Amino acid sequence: MVESSDPSMRTVTVELGDDRTYPVHVGRGAVTRLAELIPERSRRVAIVTQSGIPHTIDTGRDQRVFVIGDGEASKTLSTIESLCESFAEWNLTRADAVIGLGGGLVTDVAGFAASVYHRGLPVIHVSTSLLGQIDAAIGGKTGVNLPQGKNLVGAYWQPRGVICDTEFLDTLPEREWRCGMGELAKYHWLGGGRLDELDLDDRVAQCVRIKAEVVASDERESSRRAILNYGHTLGHAIEVAGDHQLRHGEAVAIGLIYAAELAQSLGRITADDVAEHRRVVAGYGLPTQIPDDLGDDELITLMGRDKKVLDAGLTFVLDGPNGVEVVHSVDPELVRSTLAALR
Ligand code: GLY
Repeated sequence: MVESSDPSMRTVTVELGDDRTYPVHVGRGAVTRLAELIPERSRRVAIVTQSGIPHTIDTGRDQRVFVIGDGEASKTLSTIESLCESFAEWNLTRADAVIGLGGGLVTDVAGFAASVYHRGLPVIHVSTSLLGQIDAAIGGKTGVNLPQGKNLVGAYWQPRGVICDTEFLDTLPEREWRCGMGELAKYHWLGGGRLDELDLDDRVAQCVRIKAEVVASDERESSRRAILNYGHTLGHAIEVAGDHQLRHGEAVAIGLIYAAELAQSLGRITADDVAEHRRVVAGYGLPTQIPDDLGDDELITLMGRDKKVLDAGLTFVLDGPNGVEVVHSVDPELVRSTLAALR
């Protein structure tokens, strides 16, 4: 990872294998760095966005806006198909570029379309949500949902660069802001420390640095990258069991506290460590208890379907003496009894 020497702009360079690198520009006004990320030879730029995104960008090229629908229901293969058809009708070529302008859903879809259209063309993400800036836009995971589950079809397709203009966050609705904080909270235990004491630009940049380092160490999630799912095992189960009444970041916040309680039950961390998890999550105004209508049996069944599971026990990402790591074969009875700590 390399830092820019420009003090007004925090630039983190994601360093992958085979000399593949890309910059992530973080800060107010970072969008002014967009033009330099577009390949010189690109004549056309396809901007993929949603109608509710209140931002426009000027690429200085022949540009066209392609609007996709809102919500998870739009994150489908048919959206990819219709985007690619529209690209073809406009004669977009492999020398051109795609820009994802929006939150995580937009950058996941734009990135996937870019990965398959003409067998791959450059993509740049201009992330407009807190959750996107600290997580989804960085690291090259792209994809869409199937009726059978979320993000089941996709590709690793690294962007040429990412813009995290924190000025865009000024217009973020309150709940989306809070959801971003739920995802951000996990970085406190992934090496971020007291992120809540930093100003927003430094906080976003610090999360980007951590994510860049983890992705650089395990681009295709053969092992370590899974620590980015800290708090997600119960979090995902709560989202699904509650029919998405709690949003992703809110559910992950509860999942972080649960992971801490479970780690303490396993003797991996102390009561003070658990209290610190509760302090951080509550400090970001996030929920700390499992909703009453979600039963233990359903949550345990859903946690057992987690992609990380290898055997009869359950698998979690847990804090411990060596930091946060993936822990397999956790006793289902302990998993059940620990749920009571969040009731
Ligand atoms: N959002 C988790 C990852 O990018 O691996």
